[in-house]
Amino acid sequence: MLAGGSGTRLRPITYTSAKQLVPLANRPILFFGLEAIAAAGITEVGIIVGETHQAIRDVVGDGSALGINVTFIQQDAPKGLAHAVLIAQDFLGDDPFVMYLGDNLVVGGITAFVEEFTAERPDAMVLLTKVDNPQSFGVAELAADGSLVRLVEKPKDPPSDLALVGVYLFDPCIHEAVRAIEPSGRGELEITDAIQWLIEHGHTVRPHILTSPWIDTGKLQDLLEANRIVLDAISRDIRGDVDDASKVEGKVAIAEGAVVRESTIRGPAVIGAGAHSERTYVGPFSSVGNGCRLVDAEIEHSVVLDGARIDGVQRIVDSLIGRDAKISRTVELPAALRLMIGDDSEISIPLS
Ligand code: TTP
Repeated sequence: MLAGGSGTRLRPITYTSAKQLVPLANRPILFFGLEAIAAAGITEVGIIVGETHQAIRDVVGDGSALGINVTFIQQDAPKGLAHAVLIAQDFLGDDPFVMYLGDNLVVGGITAFVEEFTAERPDAMVLLTKVDNPQSFGVAELAADGSLVRLVEKPKDPPSDLALVGVYLFDPCIHEAVRAIEPSGRGELEITDAIQWLIEHGHTVRPHILTSPWIDTGKLQDLLEANRIVLDAISRDIRGDVDDASKVEGKVAIAEGAVVRESTIRGPAVIGAGAHSERTYVGPFSSVGNGCRLVDAEIEHSVVLDGARIDGVQRIVDSLIGRDAKISRTVELPAALRLMIGDDSEISIPLS
């Protein structure tokens, strides 16, 4: 399980936190992958961690809560996906293994994929999915018989619309491949190069085409979409304190200790433990973290991390709001924006 990396595309959130810990419906993304692995019957899990190792260790612990036994493997710098395999060799030994990118969401899990690999035992299996913009992905070229001919990274002229999903299955022969390849132009040991090496050295690399949704949550829009998919599958579960003046519509989960007053919560949505919502509208596909405080606010299709406060601001949409961030309306003059925002933040203001 790869949970290192630099997460530049999710800055500023990743300056202070690991992108694999950004929540979907208030649960860290990483948990969805670990659960998919456990559901496939895999119990020994090595987690590659980088700079954000402490936060990941704190959240995952020894893995027993997820039914797995976790070993943390420290990567000194994000030197690439194949580098992660290289440093995990002692842990992996001679066992075949799954490599799973910790910020990826594979709806429906990976059990069918693991079972097919175990039954047929090719040297490697890659998971592919049809995408609209293959230029942005690692793309597979398949032969007429469906076998894998070649992988190309972000091709200008894609040989197919089948992109590589962030889950791979390998036989121990991958270790020779990751030792044989050189860093790419961006200075990383690329897993696509290692797989290409396997193909060129006569190993069988079998593609498996995924039909259920897959999302790489490394960018804001994709993260919001993943949150939408996960929220769509929740059940109604109201544990918090909701007054009679509030309306809670549809699939909504309100955690213990949350207080909802004169608000409308329209699902699918989740409200975290100890959060407070007053005269507020929380619209579909929103996740409000633990201990957030929303007063006279309107928010929709957004993820609000723990402890954030929104006061008097209407119609926040398509947003990711960091931990303990504050957004408020004031009557102070001049009537202007007053900002203290983190490096690489993005703010978009409507024409009025
Ligand atoms: P990416 O999203 O491809 O890389 P990144 O985390 O550096 O992000 P960005 O491009 O926004 O800077 O990585 C996929 C997953 O693999 C992600 O969960 C991070 C992890 N990873 C490692 O653990 N070690 C690595 O060396 C790299 C490159 C990624």
